[in-house]
Amino acid sequence: MKIGIPKEILDQEFRVALTPAGVYALTSHGHEVYVQKFAGTGSSISDADFIKAGAVILESTQEIFDISNLILKVKQPLDTECKYLKPSHILFTYLHLAADKKLAQDLCKSKATCIAYETIELSNGALPLLTPMSEIAGRMSVQIGAHHLEKYFGGRGIMLGGVPGVEPANVVIIGGGTVGINAARMAVGLGANVVILDNNLNRLRTLDEYFTGRLHTVYSTQHKLAELVSQADLVITAVLLTGAKAPKLINSELLANMKSGAVIVDVAIDQGGCVENVKPTKHSEPVMKINNINVYAVPNIPGAVPVTSTYALTNATLPYVIKLANNGYNAVTQDLSLLKGVNVHSGMIVHKAVAEALEMQFSTLKV
Ligand SMILES: NC(=O)c1ccc[n+]([C@@H]2O[C@H](COP(=O)([O-])OP(=O)(O)OC[C@H]3O[C@@H](n4cnc5c(N)ncnc54)[C@H](O)[C@@H]3O)[C@@H](O)[C@H]2O)c1
Repeated sequence: MKIGIPKEILDQEFRVALTPAGVYALTSHGHEVYVQKFAGTGSSISDADFIKAGAVILESTQEIFDISNLILKVKQPLDTECKYLKPSHILFTYLHLAADKKLAQDLCKSKATCIAYETIELSNGALPLLTPMSEIAGRMSVQIGAHHLEKYFGGRGIMLGGVPGVEPANVVIIGGGTVGINAARMAVGLGANVVILDNNLNRLRTLDEYFTGRLHTVYSTQHKLAELVSQADLVITAVLLTGAKAPKLINSELLANMKSGAVIVDVAIDQGGCVENVKPTKHSEPVMKINNINVYAVPNIPGAVPVTSTYALTNATLPYVIKLANNGYNAVTQDLSLLKGVNVHSGMIVHKAVAEALEMQFSTLKV
């Protein structure tokens, strides 16, 4: 198999889809790996490191797409990349299509097979390729929130942990999955007053046992959520309905009831976000101000810490990459988890939740 790794071109996206160890694993299996010049620079991986692992360096994005059958990326392809996609390509990357109808239409037009990291699902419902980035985004959401709560950044000017004699800040985490538990670990560690909401009672039981009294768990209803959000200094949204659009849990009325200078880190923005009227922002201008609330809505948070996240990503994707490289499209028919990752094939949306979220025609993948 010829495998291509283009340089990521999203704003301030410094990750790369494969490490030299990943390249070595593929070339040892007899595959050819083509890496775009400087693709690893942002993650402190040089072209020489890739060459040593067996890769060939190519100059342009077009050369990578032209020569390869399997394209590995980190983030969704932008217009300048979509134009190079063809029916013989397998594209393997984060897609988050529920929040981007135009991209879904462009991918259908290309007739390529597009497999989304985030919808690959194990039989127990776990999402193994979303998990490592959710761990990072969850942990980062608290340091991002703390930063934007500072007065200088237009925040309330409150420290998450407080100091002896002064109360800590209130942190409300909506969704107690991977992002939620990682955010909670950081916020509890800093000494904040933490509440975590989820609508899955078993999840709340697990969190309750795990944190042994160091945070409060609350069953998520709109009523309770509104009460807690209005008292919060920092809100972190971390809900997910696999493949579907994130629910708008924080509407304009609720925003208007929040404390002036409070911060929302809308981690679920990659699936459309939980805050009404919020659009994705960029690392270079990460915050959108609504009624004096700082809403941070960057859809590629782990892109800011590529030296951690590039390695965490390859650790998780490599077993699937090797299957795709060894067996091509047949890998999808042999592995049910990989099958659930296929979002677009032969010009059709083949993931039900994605098709429903986009109100596009759904076609069952024939295996
Ligand atoms: N912005 C970024 O850079 C970035 C990075 C990684 C993940 N994410 C996003 O973060 C979100 C969470 O990811 P995750 O891996 O933690 O998912 P997860 O599946 O592990 O957890 C989601 C949790 O949300 C809960 N939930 C669903 N609906 C809810 C509701 N109405 N109220 C309260 N809880 C609800 C579920 O029960 C589950 O426990 C996803 O949208 C994911 O795409 C964003």
